[in-house]
Amino acid sequence: MRKAHPVEDLARDERFVRVDIQDRISDPRSVKNSRMRTQARLTPERPDSADAARALMHGIFVGEIQALEGAGRTCWDFETGDGRDEAPFALKLDMARQCWDEARHCEISVKLSDWMGTEIGEFSEGAFLYAAACNPDPVLRLTGVNRALEGLAIDVFNTMREFGEIAGDPVLEFCEDWMLADEVTHVKMGSDWLRRLTADDPERRKDALEFQRIVDKLFSLGGFRSDEDDSPVKLARRFRELAGFDDAEIDEIADLASQALEEARTRQEAAAALASA
Ligand SMILES: [Fe+2]
Ligand SMILES: [Fe+2]
Repeated sequence: MRKAHPVEDLARDERFVRVDIQDRISDPRSVKNSRMRTQARLTPERPDSADAARALMHGIFVGEIQALEGAGRTCWDFETGDGRDEAPFALKLDMARQCWDEARHCEISVKLSDWMGTEIGEFSEGAFLYAAACNPDPVLRLTGVNRALEGLAIDVFNTMREFGEIAGDPVLEFCEDWMLADEVTHVKMGSDWLRRLTADDPERRKDALEFQRIVDKLFSLGGFRSDEDDSPVKLARRFRELAGFDDAEIDEIADLASQALEEARTRQEAAAALASA
């Protein structure tokens, strides 16, 4: 079986629609929507809350598929060992456990989509998570996927759990709660392996944290996820602590999110000025 399976060759049936993340961000039609989404907490009072929740959960669903594919790949792509292009056996065991969890999350997500009134493929799929899982260094895979993107999943699951609670939807609330518990474990695996494998290699740790920073900033999605109470997805500080982030690391993500929000506001103002000119 081939090693390092490219993102273009992921197996999907005809229901799935792949969209490049840059195309999505630069699509002028998303400016108005993103302005709405970056300025309001997800509550049932928001007129677009049902669609926003469905879109968010479809994004999580395709992320679950890719997390399964990425963790499976990390078991297979590397020889077993302690070198920079190898993966220790215990790391592969963690990834195998993660595959089991992600497969379960895919099943939960399909049933939850049905419950929320969403068709598979109703929203597009960006393949960024899997792309981050193609990094040639296993530690960078774990900082980009487990710490950055599954860290974001923690923030989303916690937000959606609260949304389910306020909206009086116990199915949504409990699905999110169960997946959140597993996600904390996956992020903690990322934190533990980062520290363990780079304990004597400051250069590798620096590269891994830089990769995480890039992914974190990109996926703050113009302030969509931030430390502010009125943002649609709020940084889940307590769960991130449980997942092995220290206070300084959580503050850094909050700072990256503020920068992403400022940059998005500038872009939106420029787009609005252009539209009215
Ligand atoms: Fe998951
Ligand atoms: Fe996960």
